[in-house]
Amino acid sequence: MSQTIIAPSILAADFANLQRDIEMVNNSEADWFHIDIMDGVFVPNISFGMPVLKAISKHAKKTIDVHLMIVDPDRYIRTFAELGSDVLTVHYEACPHLHRTLQAIKTEGMKAGVALNPHTNVSLLEDVIQDIDLVCIMSVNPGFGGQSFIENTYDKVKQLKKMIEAKGATTKIEIDGGVTNKNAKQLAEAGADILVAGSYVFGATNPTQTVKDLKTLLN
Ligand code: DX5
Ligand code: ZN
Repeated sequence: MSQTIIAPSILAADFANLQRDIEMVNNSEADWFHIDIMDGVFVPNISFGMPVLKAISKHAKKTIDVHLMIVDPDRYIRTFAELGSDVLTVHYEACPHLHRTLQAIKTEGMKAGVALNPHTNVSLLEDVIQDIDLVCIMSVNPGFGGQSFIENTYDKVKQLKKMIEAKGATTKIEIDGGVTNKNAKQLAEAGADILVAGSYVFGATNPTQTVKDLKTLLN
């Protein structure tokens, strides 16, 4: 099994000390930056938008994984490519023409991700799994950091892993929400490749050490 990727979620960073927190991630054992974009329509919260992502991109030295929690994401695919996104994830629930959206993301040179809300069954991706670089299984309801992990996630990961293998796809599985040292190992064992962690990392007294400990626990 390859090393599990750790993606600290910038949503939990100190926005008044964003550069400091970005450098923390750069200098830590973390692998990716996870960036949550919320529009106040698809989810009941607004996070930050393009100017902030532009500022993050200027300093971030690792993969930029953008999670769009917005309606009609097709309108902004090119913009997010220009802002330095390496992975662009849209919500299944926000995309009536998901196949077209995935192609548009790839045309702009990014990896294409699809996020599933907790109530959305993974089987709905069966006909498009070969076209997806990453499936983000939401282990909380999207919109806020610091919520508790939904236990049903383990079964979803296993089901998705089975589907990916059956289809001979190379899709990676990401888990987003409530990830801590209590569930990280079990998630990786169930088939998760990428773990997003927001408040667990940035809420720690020593975030760098917390990332290191997570990596040690997983590998
Ligand atoms: C929730 C976001 C998550 C969030 C995770 O809508 O998609 O990425 O930042 O935060 P924690 O790890 O605190 O649950
Ligand atoms: Zn997210």
